[in-house]
Amino acid sequence: MSNKETLESFLRGQHISRRAFLKYCSVIASVLALPPAAIPALANKLRRSIRPPVIWLSFQECTGCTESLTRSHAPTIEDLMFDFLSLDYHHTLQAASGVSAERAREKTIEQSFGKYILIVDGSIPIAEGGIYSTIAGRTNLDILEEAAKGAAIVVAVGSCSAFGGIAAANPNPTGATGISMLMDNGLIPRKPLVNLPGCPPLPIAISGVLTNMIAFGRLPELDNLNRPLSIYGKTVHERCSRIRHFRRRRFARRFDDYGAKKGWCLFKLGCKGPVSHNACAVFKWNQGTSFPIDSGHPCLGCSEHDFWDKGSFYRQLRRRRGRRLRRLQ
Ligand code: SF4
Ligand code: F3S
Repeated sequence: MSNKETLESFLRGQHISRRAFLKYCSVIASVLALPPAAIPALANKLRRSIRPPVIWLSFQECTGCTESLTRSHAPTIEDLMFDFLSLDYHHTLQAASGVSAERAREKTIEQSFGKYILIVDGSIPIAEGGIYSTIAGRTNLDILEEAAKGAAIVVAVGSCSAFGGIAAANPNPTGATGISMLMDNGLIPRKPLVNLPGCPPLPIAISGVLTNMIAFGRLPELDNLNRPLSIYGKTVHERCSRIRHFRRRRFARRFDDYGAKKGWCLFKLGCKGPVSHNACAVFKWNQGTSFPIDSGHPCLGCSEHDFWDKGSFYRQLRRRRGRRLRRLQ
């Protein structure tokens, strides 16, 4: 596929119908909170857009973020959008290895300087000069600093690259750090940054932000943690299917009690949905099949800063927050 190919000709080559394409555009419009009137403009812009070069760096991570995006039971148009990107370097997915893989990254940096999208998953270890994670003899921090210099935007995929995640949990022996903290401390160049936290993040959040970039060449509106407002602007609680039980004070108190079996609210089992911002209750995983609360497990707050150290996953939120809950109803 040529880097000059438009999305329209790419989709034609993949035998994607106009109807399926418009359906995809309407889903993305809802992810980005665009009004229905904006769907034709989104579709027109997208059709004419050219493949953007992308470098995807994976550091201290578990591969869950990549799996979230790529694991689906059948090919979807979201997968095809992902195929449309010129994914010039991705540790996990690329066929190349060794010198040729490293060369592909260097070539993209050289030839598309200032234009490529840099996606990062995993935290960056900075303790002891960054020696805890190296690739081809170079520290993660060194590789990231080089790639960030020529990036048009940086997208931090997952809680580890956004905020440090599990690897940064106390006592954080590797000095695991998120991208925004590295930018704040001048360890990497400051670039426009979108954080897509979650463990893992919603696949539609990743493809929605990339689609917005491809179509309009700009970032979506962000909150104070650089998260897209359209996805992270409300709490899990506000959109939860169990909220009617919360309002009627019908709570499961054990994982095997009557309330748990009846699908009652998981607040007393430590649910952090009231203080966690994410759209997982709306978009879900595995093509909209489920998310933790639908499967009977309380929200752990995986999309929030300090996820993990805030911990005490199964302890009920404190009363101070309980008061705030009542205001939400
Ligand atoms: Fe849903 Fe948790 Fe809120 Fe209950 S406390 S309604 S389970 S988000
Ligand atoms: Fe994460 Fe809570 Fe959603 S744990 S996936 S933000 S339900």
